[in-house]
Amino acid sequence: MSENKEADLTAANTENKAAKKKRVFSGVQPTGRLVLGNYLGAVKNWVPMQDENECCFCVVDQHSITVRQDPKELRQRCLDFLTLYIACGLDPDKSLIYFQSHVPAHAQLAWVLNCYTYMGELSRMTQFKEKSLKHQDNINAGLFTYPVLMAADILLYQTDLVPVGIDQKQHLEIAQIIAKRFNGAYGDVFRIPEAIIPKVGAKIMSLQDPTSKMSKSDVNPKAYIAVLDEPDTIIKKMKSAVTDSDGKVEYGDGKDGINNLLTIYSVATGESIESTQARFANLGYGDFKMQVAEAVVELLRPVREKYYDLKKNEDYVKSVYTKSADVANKIAGRTMDKVYKKIGFIAR
Ligand code: TRP
Repeated sequence: MSENKEADLTAANTENKAAKKKRVFSGVQPTGRLVLGNYLGAVKNWVPMQDENECCFCVVDQHSITVRQDPKELRQRCLDFLTLYIACGLDPDKSLIYFQSHVPAHAQLAWVLNCYTYMGELSRMTQFKEKSLKHQDNINAGLFTYPVLMAADILLYQTDLVPVGIDQKQHLEIAQIIAKRFNGAYGDVFRIPEAIIPKVGAKIMSLQDPTSKMSKSDVNPKAYIAVLDEPDTIIKKMKSAVTDSDGKVEYGDGKDGINNLLTIYSVATGESIESTQARFANLGYGDFKMQVAEAVVELLRPVREKYYDLKKNEDYVKSVYTKSADVANKIAGRTMDKVYKKIGFIAR
């Protein structure tokens, strides 16, 4: 091959790489119920990413068993979460939508990466510290190595971008550290992933304790709005949202409850917080809460309708997750082959 031709090919290659879509991976644990906070802070942001990228959206069922789960409930919830992914706008024609446990390579790679992760690193993880305080009777090894499984989820697919909430930043950092350590020892095996963290506004807080995140596993259902809550329930929960005694619909220090409601309204409708507070300046809290409730009802209505449509067609949902898992297994298999080879395992 002439030198010129070789140069041309290299240029074409670089171009191809630049035009190549980026890989996106993200997941939610099927615990509790999918809540407004997950929708606004995560799943809704994934929807527009599907056009420009190759996306893997996973229901990370294996992560959820670090805490005891009732098998029957877990099975139902896994299916509900995946169905909700589709109802929220994740599109099986564009993205892979599947269960983590259907791709055995997640667990296989996690084992390997466990051997390249230090106890000290894992014991610094804030989520581990919090969860082990909360579940003192069950501080299992899975809870400890959870971030390694998460790193495996991401690295398996040569992921470029990982859209996650701010609470997952530390887990992303350790995934990068593990990937770099492995690459350092064996050459470029893993692409180094980057976190995409939504702007502050998208953090939705509990309606009962607006200083903590709206959690899908909160014991008090009044603290969250589930994506599938009926309009009446949404209105009731909004009405009982904790506010303050100041009485002004205004964003400000020490007004966590009102700040949260303004954020919810703003993210739900797309109207800025400034313009929202200007428009509602003369409203009492009761009326303001009704406005927020109505905005949320309208936001979630199409999701709930699509979900119940999909429930009537379980075969379709099943075909989505089986076909997606087939493709995911192929992509993951390529990384696994490379990893095993680099380590020195004999090919089958
Ligand atoms: N740990 C994440 C959470 O609790 C869920 C998760 C597991 C995840 N694996 C992932 C998120 C990979 C992004 C990428 O929210």
